[in-house]
Amino acid sequence: MNGERKVISFTVTGFGEEYTVQTYENEYRNLMVLLNDKIYMEDFGQCGGQGRCATCLVEVTAPGGGLLTHERNEQSTIAKKGRVGQNARLSCQIFINDALNGAVINIPDDLL
Ligand code: FES
Repeated sequence: MNGERKVISFTVTGFGEEYTVQTYENEYRNLMVLLNDKIYMEDFGQCGGQGRCATCLVEVTAPGGGLLTHERNEQSTIAKKGRVGQNARLSCQIFINDALNGAVINIPDDLL
C-alpha cells in the first residue's frame, strides 16, 4: 500500500471532556502543536516548543510504557511546575509517531 499513511489514534482528556484524536506520523511538529490545533487552549505552549515554559505539560498513559522517556532538560522544566512523576511530559517534546497510538493524554487543568 504505497503512500498510505498509518492512522495514529489516541485519547485526550481534560476540562471534563474526552476527545478522540486521529493524526498521522509527523503530521504536526510535536504534540503541543497538535493539541493547540485540535483543541484550542489559551496559554498552552507559551515558549513555542523550546522546552522552557512547561505550560504544555501533559500526563501520559501509554501502552507498553512508551512515551515515558524524557528528553534532555525536560525533567528540570517540569520540576519548575512542582510536578513529579514519570508520566508528566512536556507535550512539545513528544513527536507524532506510533508510540502515541492508543495512548491517553491528560491535560491537567490545574496547571493552566
Ligand atoms: S511549549 Fe514551552 S515547554 Fe513546551
